[in-house]
Amino acid sequence: MSEDTGRARQLLRDAGAVIVLTGAGVSAESGVPTFRGPGGLWKEFRPDELATPEAFARDPRLVWEWYAWRRTLVAACAPNAAHRSLAEWALHSRKVTIVTQNVDGLHARAARVAAGNGDAAHALPVEVHGSLLRDRCSGCDARSEPVTVDATSSATLPRCTRCGALLRPDVVWFGEMLDEGAVAKADRAAATADVCLVVGTSALVHPAALLPLRTRAQGGLVIEVNPEETPLTRVAEISIRGRAVEVVPVLLVRTA
Ligand code: OAD
Repeated sequence: MSEDTGRARQLLRDAGAVIVLTGAGVSAESGVPTFRGPGGLWKEFRPDELATPEAFARDPRLVWEWYAWRRTLVAACAPNAAHRSLAEWALHSRKVTIVTQNVDGLHARAARVAAGNGDAAHALPVEVHGSLLRDRCSGCDARSEPVTVDATSSATLPRCTRCGALLRPDVVWFGEMLDEGAVAKADRAAATADVCLVVGTSALVHPAALLPLRTRAQGGLVIEVNPEETPLTRVAEISIRGRAVEVVPVLLVRTA
């Protein structure tokens, strides 16, 4: 184990409260594509055609086709060792809050497995960018379980059973506000944390990328796990260059 890993482990063990902020990199080893790296979704697809309210208003069929593809992709993936060790930790230590930008549901799946028949609530992440695995009505905003989407034509797209408007995936699109409740929870966790552990995010999308800075501003420390340098590297007390599946389980061994 490197000196940095040992020191990070000690800091996490000694901290009174910890926020864990994750991004697409934590799910990379599960087979979920990241957005900006090699093979990233935003290299192949254009966000303005697929991930904005305007795109949905213009061509809901195309948008649904893309999200239905992503749902299928994520359904075939499983939580990896990083999701699992974070879930175990958050389940057994009340000091941990997991905040994720990911919409793939893998943290939540790991939490439910870790809890078995018990209560997974404390290990469930705050999903600041929403969830691919939930629908939302574009008219009345009601959230619902995801339906199977037939995106072969605009006539077959799913509609709200209450108001008849088109359903959409419950994810945050570019130009949209984040859910107020989720942001408030994440912000509170960042402001009160002694350590912010940041795993697998390019830290380019706000306001999520500001959470570690919030911890810093309140006198806490930032620990980063990422194979690449990011804008957070210069504010991080410790930056561990490595893949989440290799580093995170080692960091959390016997961390209470
Ligand atoms: P990005 O694709 O921007 O960044 C992924 C990060 O993960 C990069 O810094 C990689 O170096 C790192 N990474 C890659 N493989 C890794 C591994 N095995 N272990 C650890 N880290 C690894 O994804 P995000 O930062 O999550 O928003 O992107 C933020 C937001 O931008 C997303 O939530 C999404 C996107 O547009 C919305 O859709 C609203």
